[in-house]
Amino acid sequence: MASNENPFGPSPKAVQAMEAAITECNFYPDNDARELRQKLAAGFRVATDQVLVAAGLTSLLDIICRALLKPGQNAVTSQRSFIVYPIATKAAGGEIIEAPTKDDGFDLEAIAAAIAPGTRLVFLANPNNPTGTLFDAAALDRFVARVPEYVVVIVDEAYYEFAQYFAGQRKIQYSHSLDYVRAGRKVVVLRTFSKAHGLAGLRVGYGIGPADLMADFSRLRTTFSVSVPAQAAALAALDDDAHIQLALKNNADGAESLVKELSGLGYRASLTWANFVYCEVGEDAGAVAKRMQAEGVIIRALGAWGAPLAIRVTIGTPEQNQRFLAAFKRVMERAPIRL
Ligand SMILES: Cc1ncc(COP(=O)(O)O)c(C=O)c1O
Repeated sequence: MASNENPFGPSPKAVQAMEAAITECNFYPDNDARELRQKLAAGFRVATDQVLVAAGLTSLLDIICRALLKPGQNAVTSQRSFIVYPIATKAAGGEIIEAPTKDDGFDLEAIAAAIAPGTRLVFLANPNNPTGTLFDAAALDRFVARVPEYVVVIVDEAYYEFAQYFAGQRKIQYSHSLDYVRAGRKVVVLRTFSKAHGLAGLRVGYGIGPADLMADFSRLRTTFSVSVPAQAAALAALDDDAHIQLALKNNADGAESLVKELSGLGYRASLTWANFVYCEVGEDAGAVAKRMQAEGVIIRALGAWGAPLAIRVTIGTPEQNQRFLAAFKRVMERAPIRL
């Protein structure tokens, strides 16, 4: 329960599509993923050349950094956010500036204040990984209005479907990020098939942004990097709303019960907008994670994110959540240090 995957696996429709595609694996894939891009573009009411498909968002983030950053330039993001932002930025020779968090999440005021003449990119994770926080559509409107023209804003919505579901339940307006793209703003929205669609192992993600930027990014892709089965599965997964709804409902129920149980045990577990829960355990989280692993449950300790006392646990099936909780209680009974 460490990597925020879908506990229900891929959609049966995606599995069927992959099985059929296996027999065509003597051929190289469509390098432009045209059918998938067309379907995404039609669904999101954007032009096909505003959509770029890559081998997961990790790959796309790397491409974006290589396209837009060089030594002496920087990218701005938040502390305690997705770990690939600093990695990809530094690999491209850029510097990463991490603004302080507010209430465990993005402080868009602090991000805007950190933008400097050398800034080319801003990474916003909404919801944020690993803290599960969210900023609403109005907050992003205010931020985008303030960003200088020379900065590209990357709005990473890897957990979009989960957040949208919670936003419906909790009655807030989550995101209308694609409107910025439709209005010609320098905003690139990132989504993935790894989370709600349950295809993390296939590696398919996509960006939606200005056509000229997407063309620049496209030139830096590794040729043929999105495989024949990956493209087939992604196309089929888009048609299986029932499978996604199953994951979303299970996730919302699991989020509620996990946060309640962990809070009941005396730990600070945050409200989540994604498919994982951030929890402060009051002691070295790395040691807790090791003890959990000895119980057969893998969770993420967040020391590398600058949160040495926090864990992140992916929301699983009800059985997996119960197994996590039982192991957590056993593990913490042996070390009763509470907040
Ligand atoms: C915020 C965020 N962005 C991007 C990704 C990477 O997604 P992908 O599997 O498409 O590389 C993750 C994965 O955990 C994530 O949490």
